[in-house]
Amino acid sequence: MSGYTEINGALHVDNVALTQIAEEFGTPTYVYSSHSIKSQYDALKGAMVKALPADRQPQLCYACKANSNVAILSYLRSLGSSLEIVSEGELRRGLKAGFKPEQIVSTGVGKTDSEIEACLEAGIHQFNVESIPELENIDLIAGKMGKVAPIVFRLNPNVSGGGNDKISTGRKRDKFGINEASIYDAYEMAHKMENIDPKGLSMHIGSQVCTVDSFKTAFEKLPEIVANIRDKGFTLTRLDIGGGFPIIYNDEKLLDLDNYAQWVNDIIVPLDAEIIMEPGRYLVGNAGVLLSEVTYIKKTSDYDFLVLNSAMNDLIRPTLYDAYHGIEPVENRDAAMTTYDVVGPICETGDTFTRGRELPTMKRGDFAVIKSAGAYGYCMASNYNTRGLPAEVLVLDGKAHLISKRQTLDEIIDTDIVPDTLK
Ligand SMILES: Cc1ncc(COP(=O)(O)O)c(C=O)c1O
Repeated sequence: MSGYTEINGALHVDNVALTQIAEEFGTPTYVYSSHSIKSQYDALKGAMVKALPADRQPQLCYACKANSNVAILSYLRSLGSSLEIVSEGELRRGLKAGFKPEQIVSTGVGKTDSEIEACLEAGIHQFNVESIPELENIDLIAGKMGKVAPIVFRLNPNVSGGGNDKISTGRKRDKFGINEASIYDAYEMAHKMENIDPKGLSMHIGSQVCTVDSFKTAFEKLPEIVANIRDKGFTLTRLDIGGGFPIIYNDEKLLDLDNYAQWVNDIIVPLDAEIIMEPGRYLVGNAGVLLSEVTYIKKTSDYDFLVLNSAMNDLIRPTLYDAYHGIEPVENRDAAMTTYDVVGPICETGDTFTRGRELPTMKRGDFAVIKSAGAYGYCMASNYNTRGLPAEVLVLDGKAHLISKRQTLDEIIDTDIVPDTLK
């Protein structure tokens, strides 16, 4: 048995009791199932192996913005993954996790000089360039360093995708990529630059893309653009088709991976280029829970508030994206149901995980999990209300491993500097 299962009435992760993890490491703690990460990786890889020829298998570059703990990166590397990064910090994490520079692609609309330098110094596989000013800057920096930067241009295909306005990235109104009309000029400029080696195109239309046909619509833009680029005499040897695969939070319609792989085979493979994909959430989202403890049950004349010791600073998705997350008690799972508003302790009403949710009745001291929290959970956590970042635990080979220590209050407060005149 693997992933999250009930054994003798209590929730377990990869056969380890969540109660045991809570008692050993405290709460709130993010807990991840390595088994679940592996089965997602294998499902995506397997769909590609089934549909695409052996010499056109995509390089799966895990988009580590979803969860950048070095242990998670190391685990994905051990499964065969490559890496997509958006910052120097993520580059450092990736290298620390043992990724080779040539396995790393760098994306992002605002790459700074020091990030570009660090990526060039390491010798990454490619920069996914989002604008002409960025192209000029990479050329300048590469020139000073005596390097040639491999780049692809991120195409903005003007296709709407993404489970929420804030995570849709492929519309012309969005800040990402370069539109089709400008791609040809960009390619021509790059072609003439001494320190740039233009390799192809990339695309990423959004995250938690539940309108799954959007992927196909975006792919269908590529054959003509690729042909036009080649007709102008430029070489194009790489196509990075992004990430964005949805996971289950509630009752979403999921992407049929076999269909997706078939689209890649039918539309992208004939373009005769190296294929790169950038899955993030899909690989880690359902693998994680935020293990929490009930601090109080607060009853008013109208509502029952289940007050957890985790809060919006630990998991911001419900308040930021109105995201649904399943919530379950770890034990006493067949208790009579009560309708709760599940909230954290932070001093704003936005610190609400859900309203009016029917859950088994709980009491102070019970443990509960907030589900599907493995992606865009810990990595978006903050110190709001001077709360320390939670711990992280990875269950691997039947054992719970601490992979990130709970942040102490001293660690937060010690960064403040009081001017002498105020002492
Ligand atoms: C360029 C790029 N690639 C990949 C991803 C990963 O998306 P997801 O986690 O939905 O797969 C993102 C997410 O924002 C992104 O911006």
